[in-house]
Amino acid sequence: MKEFLGITGLILNEPLLWEKGKKGRSGFSLPRRDVEGFPLDENLIGAGPDFPDLSEVDVIRHYTRLSTWNFGVDTGMYPLGSCTMKYNPKTNEKQAALPGFAKAHPLLPSDLSQGALQLMYELEHLLAEITGLDAVSLQPAAGAHGELTGMLIFYAYHQKQGSPRSKIIIPDTAHGTNPASAALCGFRAIPVKSNEQGILSPATVDAVMDEDTAGIMVTNPNTLGLFEEHIKAIAAIVHAKGGLVYGDGANLNAIMGIVDIGKIGIDVLHLNLHKTFSTPHGGGGPGAGPVCVKKYLEPFLPVPRVIKENDRYVLSEDFPDSIGKLHAFYGNFGIMVRAYSYILSMGAHLKKVSQLAVLNANYLKESLKEVLHLPYNRPCMHECVFSDKFQQADQITTLDIAKRLMDYGFHPPTIYFPLVVHGALMIEPTETESQESLDLFIDAVKTIVKEAREHPELLREAPKRPKVRRMDETAAARHPCLRG
Ligand SMILES: Cc1ncc(COP(=O)(O)O)c(C=O)c1O
Repeated sequence: MKEFLGITGLILNEPLLWEKGKKGRSGFSLPRRDVEGFPLDENLIGAGPDFPDLSEVDVIRHYTRLSTWNFGVDTGMYPLGSCTMKYNPKTNEKQAALPGFAKAHPLLPSDLSQGALQLMYELEHLLAEITGLDAVSLQPAAGAHGELTGMLIFYAYHQKQGSPRSKIIIPDTAHGTNPASAALCGFRAIPVKSNEQGILSPATVDAVMDEDTAGIMVTNPNTLGLFEEHIKAIAAIVHAKGGLVYGDGANLNAIMGIVDIGKIGIDVLHLNLHKTFSTPHGGGGPGAGPVCVKKYLEPFLPVPRVIKENDRYVLSEDFPDSIGKLHAFYGNFGIMVRAYSYILSMGAHLKKVSQLAVLNANYLKESLKEVLHLPYNRPCMHECVFSDKFQQADQITTLDIAKRLMDYGFHPPTIYFPLVVHGALMIEPTETESQESLDLFIDAVKTIVKEAREHPELLREAPKRPKVRRMDETAAARHPCLRG
Protein backbone atom coordinates (compact mmCIF):
# COMPACT_ATOMS: atom_id res chain seq x y z
CA MET A 1 0.00 0.00 0.00
CA LYS A 2 2.73 2.38 1.08
CA GLU A 3 4.27 2.74 -2.36
CA PHE A 4 1.03 4.29 -3.66
CA LEU A 5 1.20 7.21 -1.25
CA GLY A 6 1.29 10.44 -3.14
CA ILE A 7 1.20 8.72 -6.53
CA THR A 8 -2.44 7.86 -7.08
CA GLY A 9 -5.28 10.30 -6.96
CA LEU A 10 -7.12 8.44 -4.23
CA ILE A 11 -4.58 8.32 -1.46
CA LEU A 12 -4.02 11.98 -0.93
CA ASN A 13 -0.97 11.91 1.26
CA GLU A 14 0.88 14.49 -0.70
CA PRO A 15 4.70 14.66 -0.54
CA LEU A 16 6.58 17.93 -0.84
CA LEU A 17 7.44 19.13 -4.34
CA TRP A 18 11.09 18.63 -3.38
CA GLU A 19 10.36 14.94 -2.72
CA LYS A 20 8.51 14.59 -6.03
CA GLY A 21 11.19 16.16 -8.21
CA LYS A 22 13.26 14.04 -10.62
CA LYS A 23 16.45 15.27 -12.27
CA GLY A 24 15.85 16.40 -15.84
CA ARG A 25 12.06 16.88 -15.64
CA SER A 26 10.73 20.16 -16.84
CA GLY A 27 7.47 22.04 -17.24
CA PHE A 28 8.22 23.15 -20.80
CA SER A 29 10.00 21.94 -23.93
CA LEU A 30 11.86 24.24 -26.29
CA PRO A 31 12.40 23.50 -29.99
CA ARG A 32 15.84 22.10 -30.90
CA ARG A 33 18.45 24.79 -31.26
CA ASP A 34 19.17 25.53 -34.92
CA VAL A 35 21.80 28.27 -34.38
CA GLU A 36 25.36 28.24 -33.11
CA GLY A 37 25.68 27.85 -29.35
CA PHE A 38 27.07 30.79 -27.41
CA PRO A 39 28.59 30.33 -23.94
CA LEU A 40 26.88 32.26 -21.14
CA ASP A 41 28.77 34.81 -19.10
CA GLU A 42 30.55 32.95 -16.27
CA ASN A 43 28.94 35.30 -13.70
CA LEU A 44 25.49 34.21 -14.75
CA ILE A 45 26.16 30.52 -14.26
CA GLY A 46 26.01 29.97 -10.51
CA ALA A 47 24.73 26.98 -8.63
CA GLY A 48 21.22 28.48 -8.87
CA PRO A 49 18.42 27.96 -6.41
CA ASP A 50 17.80 24.46 -5.16
CA PHE A 51 14.51 23.95 -7.01
CA PRO A 52 13.26 20.47 -7.86
CA ASP A 53 12.87 19.45 -11.52
CA LEU A 54 9.15 18.88 -12.14
CA SER A 55 6.74 18.47 -15.02
CA GLU A 56 3.65 20.66 -15.36
CA VAL A 57 1.32 17.80 -14.47
CA ASP A 58 3.35 17.03 -11.29
CA VAL A 59 2.85 20.59 -10.12
CA ILE A 60 -0.83 20.83 -11.09
CA ARG A 61 -1.69 17.57 -9.33
CA HIS A 62 0.26 18.60 -6.26
CA TYR A 63 -1.61 21.87 -5.79
CA THR A 64 -4.99 20.49 -6.86
CA ARG A 65 -4.69 17.69 -4.28
CA LEU A 66 -3.69 20.14 -1.58
CA SER A 67 -6.72 22.28 -2.45
CA THR A 68 -9.04 19.35 -1.77
CA TRP A 69 -7.86 19.16 1.84
CA ASN A 70 -9.39 22.50 2.56
CA PHE A 71 -12.97 23.20 3.53
CA GLY A 72 -14.81 26.09 1.92
CA VAL A 73 -18.31 27.44 1.66
CA ASP A 74 -18.36 25.94 -1.84
CA THR A 75 -17.94 22.46 -0.34
CA GLY A 76 -20.28 22.56 2.65
CA MET A 77 -22.03 24.47 5.41
CA TYR A 78 -19.65 26.83 7.19
CA PRO A 79 -21.54 28.21 10.22
CA LEU A 80 -18.61 30.21 11.60
CA GLY A 81 -20.31 32.79 13.81
CA SER A 82 -19.15 36.39 13.51
CA CYS A 83 -17.39 35.61 10.23
CA THR A 84 -20.47 35.30 8.00
CA MET A 85 -19.24 32.68 5.58
CA LYS A 86 -22.09 33.25 3.16
CA TYR A 87 -21.99 31.87 -0.34
CA ASN A 88 -20.32 34.23 -2.84
CA PRO A 89 -22.32 34.20 -6.10
CA LYS A 90 -20.10 33.38 -9.06
CA THR A 91 -21.42 36.27 -11.12
CA ASN A 92 -19.40 38.57 -8.82
CA GLU A 93 -16.23 36.80 -9.94
CA LYS A 94 -17.26 37.08 -13.57
CA GLN A 95 -17.71 40.84 -13.34
CA ALA A 96 -14.43 41.30 -11.45
CA ALA A 97 -12.63 39.33 -14.16
CA LEU A 98 -13.82 41.63 -16.98
CA PRO A 99 -10.58 42.84 -18.58
CA GLY A 100 -11.57 46.51 -18.25
CA PHE A 101 -11.67 46.06 -14.46
CA ALA A 102 -9.13 43.30 -13.87
CA LYS A 103 -6.45 44.97 -15.98
CA ALA A 104 -7.12 48.58 -15.00
CA HIS A 105 -3.89 50.15 -13.76
CA PRO A 106 -4.19 52.42 -10.72
CA LEU A 107 -1.74 54.89 -12.24
CA LEU A 108 -3.85 55.51 -15.34
CA PRO A 109 -5.09 59.10 -15.58
CA SER A 110 -8.74 59.56 -14.65
CA ASP A 111 -9.68 60.21 -18.29
CA LEU A 112 -8.75 56.61 -19.04
CA SER A 113 -10.40 55.21 -15.88
CA GLN A 114 -13.92 56.59 -16.09
CA GLY A 115 -15.57 53.17 -15.73
CA ALA A 116 -13.60 52.22 -12.63
CA LEU A 117 -14.15 55.63 -11.03
CA GLN A 118 -17.85 55.56 -11.84
CA LEU A 119 -18.15 52.14 -10.18
CA MET A 120 -16.43 53.44 -7.03
CA TYR A 121 -18.58 56.58 -6.99
CA GLU A 122 -21.80 54.60 -7.43
CA LEU A 123 -20.81 51.96 -4.86
CA GLU A 124 -20.22 54.72 -2.30
CA HIS A 125 -23.67 56.12 -3.02
CA LEU A 126 -25.31 52.69 -2.84
CA LEU A 127 -23.70 52.02 0.54
CA ALA A 128 -24.81 55.46 1.76
CA GLU A 129 -28.35 54.67 0.71
CA ILE A 130 -28.34 51.20 2.30
CA THR A 131 -27.05 52.53 5.62
CA GLY A 132 -28.85 55.88 5.70
CA LEU A 133 -25.56 57.75 6.19
CA ASP A 134 -24.29 60.57 3.98
CA ALA A 135 -20.76 59.93 2.73
CA VAL A 136 -18.54 56.88 2.27
CA SER A 137 -14.88 55.99 1.81
CA LEU A 138 -14.09 52.63 0.22
CA GLN A 139 -10.41 52.86 1.11
CA PRO A 140 -10.04 50.74 4.30
CA ALA A 141 -8.94 47.17 3.52
CA ALA A 142 -10.81 45.28 6.27
CA GLY A 143 -13.26 45.69 9.11
CA ALA A 144 -10.58 46.48 11.66
CA HIS A 145 -8.98 48.94 9.22
CA GLY A 146 -12.39 50.63 8.96
CA GLU A 147 -12.47 50.89 12.76
CA LEU A 148 -9.04 52.48 12.76
CA THR A 149 -10.27 54.96 10.13
CA GLY A 150 -13.30 55.71 12.30
CA MET A 151 -11.14 56.30 15.37
CA LEU A 152 -8.86 58.62 13.39
CA ILE A 153 -11.98 60.54 12.34
CA PHE A 154 -13.10 60.74 16.01
CA TYR A 155 -9.67 62.07 16.91
CA ALA A 156 -9.60 64.61 14.06
CA TYR A 157 -13.13 65.80 14.86
CA HIS A 158 -12.40 66.48 18.55
CA GLN A 159 -9.09 68.07 17.64
CA LYS A 160 -10.92 70.39 15.24
CA GLN A 161 -13.40 71.27 18.00
CA GLY A 162 -10.41 72.37 20.05
CA SER A 163 -11.02 69.77 22.76
CA PRO A 164 -9.04 66.55 22.24
CA ARG A 165 -10.41 63.64 24.32
CA SER A 166 -8.70 60.53 25.64
CA LYS A 167 -11.27 57.77 26.32
CA ILE A 168 -13.69 55.53 24.39
CA ILE A 169 -16.49 53.47 25.92
CA ILE A 170 -16.54 49.88 24.66
CA PRO A 171 -19.11 47.28 25.78
CA ASP A 172 -18.13 43.68 26.59
CA THR A 173 -20.22 42.53 23.60
CA ALA A 174 -18.19 44.57 21.10
CA HIS A 175 -16.02 42.78 18.57
CA GLY A 176 -12.49 42.22 19.88
CA THR A 177 -10.94 44.43 17.23
CA ASN A 178 -12.80 47.51 18.60
CA PRO A 179 -10.64 48.13 21.70
CA ALA A 180 -7.52 47.34 19.68
CA SER A 181 -8.42 49.94 17.02
CA ALA A 182 -9.21 52.53 19.69
CA ALA A 183 -5.91 51.84 21.47
CA LEU A 184 -4.00 52.14 18.19
CA CYS A 185 -5.27 55.72 17.98
CA GLY A 186 -4.13 56.43 21.53
CA PHE A 187 -7.59 56.24 23.13
CA ARG A 188 -8.06 54.47 26.45
CA ALA A 189 -10.83 51.87 26.26
CA ILE A 190 -13.40 52.09 29.06
CA PRO A 191 -15.07 48.67 29.24
CA VAL A 192 -18.76 48.50 30.18
CA LYS A 193 -20.88 45.44 30.87
CA SER A 194 -23.97 44.35 28.99
CA ASN A 195 -27.09 43.63 31.06
CA GLU A 196 -28.81 40.31 31.82
CA GLN A 197 -30.50 40.49 28.42
CA GLY A 198 -27.12 40.60 26.66
CA ILE A 199 -27.45 44.22 25.55
CA LEU A 200 -26.29 47.60 26.80
CA SER A 201 -28.36 49.67 29.25
CA PRO A 202 -28.43 53.46 28.80
CA ALA A 203 -27.80 53.88 32.55
CA THR A 204 -24.49 51.99 32.26
CA VAL A 205 -23.30 54.39 29.57
CA ASP A 206 -24.59 57.43 31.46
CA ALA A 207 -22.51 56.40 34.46
CA VAL A 208 -19.21 56.62 32.57
CA MET A 209 -19.78 59.18 29.79
CA ASP A 210 -17.98 62.46 30.47
CA GLU A 211 -16.37 65.41 28.67
CA ASP A 212 -13.05 63.57 28.27
CA THR A 213 -14.71 60.67 26.45
CA ALA A 214 -14.49 60.86 22.66
CA GLY A 215 -17.48 58.57 22.24
CA ILE A 216 -18.61 54.97 22.20
CA MET A 217 -18.04 51.99 19.87
CA VAL A 218 -21.12 49.80 19.62
CA THR A 219 -21.23 46.57 17.65
CA ASN A 220 -24.83 46.32 16.50
CA PRO A 221 -26.10 43.61 16.23
CA ASN A 222 -23.62 42.74 18.95
CA THR A 223 -21.38 39.67 19.22
CA LEU A 224 -24.13 37.74 21.02
CA GLY A 225 -26.19 38.15 17.85
CA LEU A 226 -28.56 40.52 19.68
CA PHE A 227 -29.80 43.90 18.54
CA GLU A 228 -28.82 46.81 20.78
CA GLU A 229 -32.36 48.03 21.33
CA HIS A 230 -31.39 51.09 23.38
CA ILE A 231 -29.01 52.48 20.79
CA LYS A 232 -31.03 55.70 20.30
CA ALA A 233 -31.10 56.49 24.02
CA ILE A 234 -27.39 55.60 24.31
CA ALA A 235 -26.52 57.85 21.36
CA ALA A 236 -28.45 60.72 22.95
CA ILE A 237 -26.45 60.36 26.19
CA VAL A 238 -23.12 60.34 24.31
CA HIS A 239 -24.08 63.27 22.06
CA ALA A 240 -25.29 65.34 25.01
CA LYS A 241 -21.71 65.33 26.36
CA GLY A 242 -20.18 66.17 22.98
CA GLY A 243 -19.15 62.59 22.11
CA LEU A 244 -19.56 60.63 18.87
CA VAL A 245 -21.12 57.22 18.28
CA TYR A 246 -19.20 54.60 16.32
CA GLY A 247 -21.20 51.72 14.91
CA ASP A 248 -19.37 48.50 14.15
CA GLY A 249 -21.59 47.61 11.20
CA ALA A 250 -19.84 44.38 10.30
CA ASN A 251 -23.09 42.59 11.17
CA LEU A 252 -25.20 44.72 8.83
CA ASN A 253 -26.13 41.48 7.06
CA ALA A 254 -28.84 41.10 9.75
CA ILE A 255 -30.47 44.50 9.30
CA MET A 256 -30.06 45.61 5.67
CA GLY A 257 -33.09 47.53 4.44
CA ILE A 258 -34.59 47.27 7.92
CA VAL A 259 -32.61 49.65 10.13
CA ASP A 260 -31.73 53.21 9.08
CA ILE A 261 -28.33 53.67 10.72
CA GLY A 262 -28.45 57.43 10.25
CA LYS A 263 -31.66 57.64 12.26
CA ILE A 264 -30.52 55.60 15.26
CA GLY A 265 -27.83 58.06 16.21
CA ILE A 266 -24.69 56.52 14.72
CA ASP A 267 -22.16 59.02 13.36
CA VAL A 268 -19.53 56.70 11.87
CA LEU A 269 -20.00 53.12 10.74
CA HIS A 270 -17.83 50.55 9.02
CA LEU A 271 -19.05 47.70 6.86
CA ASN A 272 -17.38 44.39 6.12
CA LEU A 273 -17.96 43.85 2.41
CA HIS A 274 -16.77 40.26 2.94
CA LYS A 275 -19.48 39.63 5.52
CA THR A 276 -22.47 41.52 4.19
CA PHE A 277 -21.91 41.97 0.47
CA SER A 278 -20.66 38.49 -0.42
CA THR A 279 -17.07 39.28 -1.32
CA PRO A 280 -14.61 36.46 -0.58
CA HIS A 281 -12.87 35.97 2.75
CA GLY A 282 -9.46 34.97 1.65
CA GLY A 283 -6.61 34.05 4.01
CA GLY A 284 -6.21 37.56 5.35
CA GLY A 285 -7.16 39.59 2.31
CA PRO A 286 -7.58 41.49 0.14
CA GLY A 287 -10.78 42.81 1.68
CA ALA A 288 -12.68 46.03 2.14
CA GLY A 289 -14.12 47.75 5.21
CA PRO A 290 -15.77 50.93 3.86
CA VAL A 291 -16.49 53.71 6.33
CA CYS A 292 -19.79 55.63 6.20
CA VAL A 293 -20.27 58.94 8.02
CA LYS A 294 -22.78 61.67 8.74
CA LYS A 295 -22.48 64.81 6.60
CA TYR A 296 -20.62 66.89 9.20
CA LEU A 297 -17.85 64.27 9.38
CA GLU A 298 -17.38 64.00 5.62
CA PRO A 299 -14.45 66.49 5.51
CA PHE A 300 -12.39 64.06 7.62
CA LEU A 301 -12.74 61.03 5.30
CA PRO A 302 -9.52 59.64 3.75
CA VAL A 303 -8.20 61.01 0.46
CA PRO A 304 -8.18 60.71 -2.49
CA ARG A 305 -11.97 60.81 -2.94
CA VAL A 306 -13.86 60.19 -6.16
CA ILE A 307 -15.90 63.25 -7.10
CA LYS A 308 -18.06 64.09 -10.09
CA GLU A 309 -17.24 67.25 -12.07
CA ASN A 310 -19.32 68.08 -15.15
CA ASP A 311 -20.27 64.47 -15.76
CA ARG A 312 -16.63 63.29 -15.40
CA TYR A 313 -15.28 61.34 -12.44
CA VAL A 314 -12.03 62.57 -10.94
CA LEU A 315 -9.91 61.82 -7.89
CA SER A 316 -9.53 64.74 -5.53
CA GLU A 317 -7.08 65.34 -2.69
CA ASP A 318 -8.57 68.71 -1.96
CA PHE A 319 -9.97 67.97 1.50
CA PRO A 320 -7.78 69.90 3.95
CA ASP A 321 -9.32 68.30 7.07
CA SER A 322 -8.91 64.74 5.77
CA ILE A 323 -7.20 62.19 8.01
CA GLY A 324 -5.05 61.34 4.95
CA LYS A 325 -4.39 58.14 3.09
CA LEU A 326 -4.87 54.68 4.59
CA HIS A 327 -4.15 52.37 1.70
CA ALA A 328 -2.05 52.28 -1.45
CA PHE A 329 -3.98 53.93 -4.28
CA TYR A 330 -7.73 53.71 -3.48
CA GLY A 331 -8.30 50.42 -1.64
CA ASN A 332 -8.88 46.91 -2.99
CA PHE A 333 -10.67 47.63 -6.23
CA GLY A 334 -11.43 44.00 -7.23
CA ILE A 335 -13.42 43.59 -4.01
CA MET A 336 -15.41 46.75 -4.79
CA VAL A 337 -16.41 45.30 -8.19
CA ARG A 338 -17.69 42.13 -6.50
CA ALA A 339 -19.75 44.05 -3.91
CA TYR A 340 -21.17 46.36 -6.60
CA SER A 341 -22.13 43.31 -8.66
CA TYR A 342 -23.84 41.74 -5.61
CA ILE A 343 -25.77 44.87 -4.69
CA LEU A 344 -27.01 45.44 -8.25
CA SER A 345 -27.95 41.80 -8.74
CA MET A 346 -29.86 41.67 -5.43
CA GLY A 347 -31.52 45.09 -5.63
CA ALA A 348 -34.48 45.33 -3.28
CA HIS A 349 -33.93 41.68 -2.25
CA LEU A 350 -31.16 42.84 0.07
CA LYS A 351 -33.83 43.24 2.72
CA LYS A 352 -34.88 39.63 2.17
CA VAL A 353 -31.23 38.54 2.59
CA SER A 354 -31.30 39.94 6.13
CA GLN A 355 -34.71 38.49 6.89
CA LEU A 356 -33.60 35.02 5.80
CA ALA A 357 -30.31 35.26 7.71
CA VAL A 358 -32.28 36.09 10.87
CA LEU A 359 -34.90 33.41 10.19
CA ASN A 360 -32.25 30.71 9.69
CA ALA A 361 -30.44 31.65 12.90
CA ASN A 362 -33.67 31.59 14.90
CA TYR A 363 -34.62 28.23 13.36
CA LEU A 364 -31.31 26.77 14.54
CA LYS A 365 -31.61 28.40 17.93
CA GLU A 366 -35.10 27.04 18.55
CA SER A 367 -34.19 23.59 17.24
CA LEU A 368 -31.08 23.23 19.37
CA LYS A 369 -31.94 24.98 22.62
CA GLU A 370 -33.22 21.73 24.15
CA VAL A 371 -29.83 20.05 23.75
CA LEU A 372 -27.38 22.96 24.04
CA HIS A 373 -27.49 25.59 26.77
CA LEU A 374 -28.74 28.93 25.44
CA PRO A 375 -27.54 31.68 27.81
CA TYR A 376 -29.76 34.41 26.31
CA ASN A 377 -33.09 32.84 25.54
CA ARG A 378 -34.64 35.50 23.32
CA PRO A 379 -35.00 36.17 19.59
CA CYS A 380 -31.61 36.53 17.96
CA MET A 381 -30.47 38.27 14.82
CA HIS A 382 -28.20 36.52 12.28
CA GLU A 383 -26.34 34.29 14.75
CA CYS A 384 -26.96 32.54 18.05
CA VAL A 385 -24.64 31.72 20.91
CA PHE A 386 -24.83 28.48 22.93
CA SER A 387 -22.52 27.10 25.61
CA ASP A 388 -21.28 23.66 26.68
CA LYS A 389 -22.94 23.93 30.14
CA PHE A 390 -25.24 20.90 29.60
CA GLN A 391 -22.28 18.74 28.51
CA GLN A 392 -20.04 19.62 31.46
CA ALA A 393 -21.40 16.68 33.52
CA ASP A 394 -19.96 14.34 30.87
CA GLN A 395 -16.69 16.30 30.80
CA ILE A 396 -17.31 17.23 27.20
CA THR A 397 -16.27 20.69 26.11
CA THR A 398 -17.14 23.09 23.32
CA LEU A 399 -13.89 22.07 21.59
CA ASP A 400 -14.95 18.40 21.54
CA ILE A 401 -18.33 19.25 20.02
CA ALA A 402 -16.72 21.47 17.39
CA LYS A 403 -14.16 18.80 16.45
CA ARG A 404 -16.81 16.09 16.22
CA LEU A 405 -18.87 18.26 13.83
CA MET A 406 -15.99 17.90 11.36
CA ASP A 407 -16.60 14.13 11.28
CA TYR A 408 -20.13 14.92 10.11
CA GLY A 409 -18.85 17.10 7.28
CA PHE A 410 -19.49 20.55 8.74
CA HIS A 411 -17.06 23.34 9.39
CA PRO A 412 -17.16 23.97 13.15
CA PRO A 413 -18.84 27.11 14.46
CA THR A 414 -16.81 29.83 16.15
CA ILE A 415 -15.83 28.66 19.62
CA TYR A 416 -14.94 30.37 22.90
CA PHE A 417 -16.11 33.73 21.50
CA PRO A 418 -17.74 36.01 22.56
CA LEU A 419 -15.92 36.02 25.87
CA VAL A 420 -19.04 36.98 27.82
CA VAL A 421 -20.28 33.39 27.42
CA HIS A 422 -18.16 30.68 29.03
CA GLY A 423 -17.53 27.84 26.54
CA ALA A 424 -19.35 29.68 23.75
CA LEU A 425 -20.42 28.04 20.49
CA MET A 426 -21.36 30.81 18.11
CA ILE A 427 -23.39 29.61 15.14
CA GLU A 428 -24.12 31.71 12.07
CA PRO A 429 -25.91 29.76 9.34
CA THR A 430 -26.29 32.72 6.90
CA GLU A 431 -29.19 33.21 4.51
CA THR A 432 -27.80 30.95 1.82
CA GLU A 433 -28.36 27.62 3.64
CA SER A 434 -31.51 25.72 2.69
CA GLN A 435 -33.81 24.18 5.27
CA GLU A 436 -32.43 20.74 4.29
CA SER A 437 -28.87 21.69 5.16
CA LEU A 438 -29.99 23.38 8.40
CA ASP A 439 -31.85 20.18 9.33
CA LEU A 440 -28.78 18.08 8.58
CA PHE A 441 -26.73 20.33 10.84
CA ILE A 442 -29.34 20.15 13.60
CA ASP A 443 -29.40 16.34 13.29
CA ALA A 444 -25.60 16.22 13.49
CA VAL A 445 -25.53 18.37 16.65
CA LYS A 446 -28.26 16.28 18.29
CA THR A 447 -26.42 13.06 17.44
CA ILE A 448 -23.20 14.49 18.86
CA VAL A 449 -24.94 15.51 22.08
CA LYS A 450 -26.24 11.92 22.39
CA GLU A 451 -22.76 10.56 21.72
CA ALA A 452 -21.39 12.88 24.43
CA ARG A 453 -23.51 10.99 26.93
CA GLU A 454 -23.12 7.47 25.55
CA HIS A 455 -19.69 7.39 23.85
CA PRO A 456 -17.78 10.46 25.00
CA GLU A 457 -14.50 9.04 23.63
CA LEU A 458 -15.86 9.62 20.11
CA LEU A 459 -15.87 13.33 20.82
CA ARG A 460 -12.58 13.42 22.70
CA GLU A 461 -10.80 11.68 19.82
CA ALA A 462 -12.54 13.66 17.08
CA PRO A 463 -12.05 14.45 14.29
CA LYS A 464 -11.28 11.05 12.81
CA ARG A 465 -12.30 11.60 9.21
CA PRO A 466 -10.47 14.74 8.06
CA LYS A 467 -6.96 14.54 6.70
CA VAL A 468 -5.44 16.26 9.72
CA ARG A 469 -6.36 14.99 13.18
CA ARG A 470 -6.64 16.85 16.48
CA MET A 471 -3.50 18.43 17.78
CA ASP A 472 -2.08 16.95 20.98
CA GLU A 473 -2.42 20.12 23.01
CA THR A 474 -0.66 18.78 26.09
CA ALA A 475 2.38 17.68 24.07
CA ALA A 476 2.34 20.97 22.16
CA ALA A 477 2.36 22.93 25.42
CA ARG A 478 5.03 20.76 27.06
CA HIS A 479 7.33 20.40 24.08
CA PRO A 480 6.67 23.40 21.87
CA CYS A 481 8.28 23.01 18.46
CA LEU A 482 8.68 26.57 17.29
CA ARG A 483 10.69 25.85 14.16
CA GLY A 484 9.66 23.97 11.02
C1 LIG B 1 -18.51 42.52 14.34
C2 LIG B 1 -17.15 42.55 13.69
N1 LIG B 1 -16.41 43.66 13.75
C3 LIG B 1 -15.19 43.71 13.18
C4 LIG B 1 -14.65 42.64 12.52
C5 LIG B 1 -13.26 42.75 11.96
O1 LIG B 1 -13.26 42.64 10.58
P1 LIG B 1 -11.96 42.19 9.78
O2 LIG B 1 -11.69 40.77 10.16
O3 LIG B 1 -12.31 42.36 8.34
O4 LIG B 1 -10.84 43.10 10.20
C6 LIG B 1 -15.39 41.45 12.41
C7 LIG B 1 -14.85 40.28 11.71
O5 LIG B 1 -15.48 39.29 11.48
C8 LIG B 1 -16.68 41.40 13.01
O6 LIG B 1 -17.42 40.29 12.96
